[in-house]
Amino acid sequence: KKVILTCAQPTGQLHLGNYFGALRNWASMIDDYECFFGIVDQHAITLPYVPAELRQATYRNLALYIACGLDPSKCHLFCQSHIIGHTELAWVLGCLCPIGQLERMTQFKDKSQREDSGFIGAGLLNYPVLMAADILLYNADRVPVGEDQKQHVELCRDLAIKFNNTYSETFRVPEVYIPKTGARIKSLQDPLKKMSKSDANQSGCVYLLDSPKTIRKKIRSAVTDSGSEVRAGKDKPGITNLLTIFSSATGRSVEDLEKQFEGSQYGPFKDAVADAVINALEPIQAKYEEIHNDKAYLDSVFKQGAEVAQKRAYKMISKVYRKAGFAPRT
Ligand code: TYM
Repeated sequence: KKVILTCAQPTGQLHLGNYFGALRNWASMIDDYECFFGIVDQHAITLPYVPAELRQATYRNLALYIACGLDPSKCHLFCQSHIIGHTELAWVLGCLCPIGQLERMTQFKDKSQREDSGFIGAGLLNYPVLMAADILLYNADRVPVGEDQKQHVELCRDLAIKFNNTYSETFRVPEVYIPKTGARIKSLQDPLKKMSKSDANQSGCVYLLDSPKTIRKKIRSAVTDSGSEVRAGKDKPGITNLLTIFSSATGRSVEDLEKQFEGSQYGPFKDAVADAVINALEPIQAKYEEIHNDKAYLDSVFKQGAEVAQKRAYKMISKVYRKAGFAPRT
């Protein structure tokens, strides 16, 4: 079976962008591929954070992964810091990575500009190297991500090729896989920006655990465009985003939805979008409720994932260290 690997950071809460752009597609792959899904806590410390919240978010995300359909008996769910190998490989790869390439990463530029404490740690710059290590450690064939991570996966490919050329053929060069719809869900308050956990305006972001009432409120107050037609288009970023969300939540095409809402006002359309989102999230929230307090169960899932992941990681690190010329451990 081909290997899939992808991860999400346990910072803040998972939102609709993470679900439509990521988790839902991951769940559709678990029968056909060997899948590794990570909760990357080491990535989450690249910006200022609160340790207790990180720990809590790690468990919450695990429960949400499972609730979104990532059945732990069919895939490997792991916590990055539980596996020895991610940072080790990142070090070796980092020594091959030109600083300039890291400085040019769009996300680094965005995040370092936004960081108002004025402190930018080396971790934030090195973050894409750690991400490359996450992928290469398991020799992933394919990396499903939303549009915003594409550049990082390309860097990973460059580093894999560079390592293979510098030492010898070691890593598979992974392919990026971007879903057709939902790859770029926008903020409800600023449809030119992506929906993001780090957005200062929380009402632009629908979290997977928001109550139906909150979801309706956020969608009703979504920024819309001039005119009153319900149709997608460059001149209508707000409505286009709502149509994308509607389409992602129901599986219906945007054209089909445009037809249904021809002549309709924004109000009833938004209510229908809210209904669709509430319906799509209902089973996830129910499953989450059932498991999220069962710490022993969640720990056992992490343990099971770590056993498989650690074996793979150890094998890869041993190979990499040998090629790098490190003396063997005796
Ligand atoms: P993160 O935690 O920001 O997001 C997790 C996944 O959700 C996707 N996503 C979106 N998709 C559509 N619309 C949006 N508004 C939206 N916001 C987020 C992201 O593209 C991602 O697929 N660096 C990564 C985590 C990571 C990783 C990896 C991913 C670490 N190591 C190895 C793949 C492979 C990140 O910060 O994702």
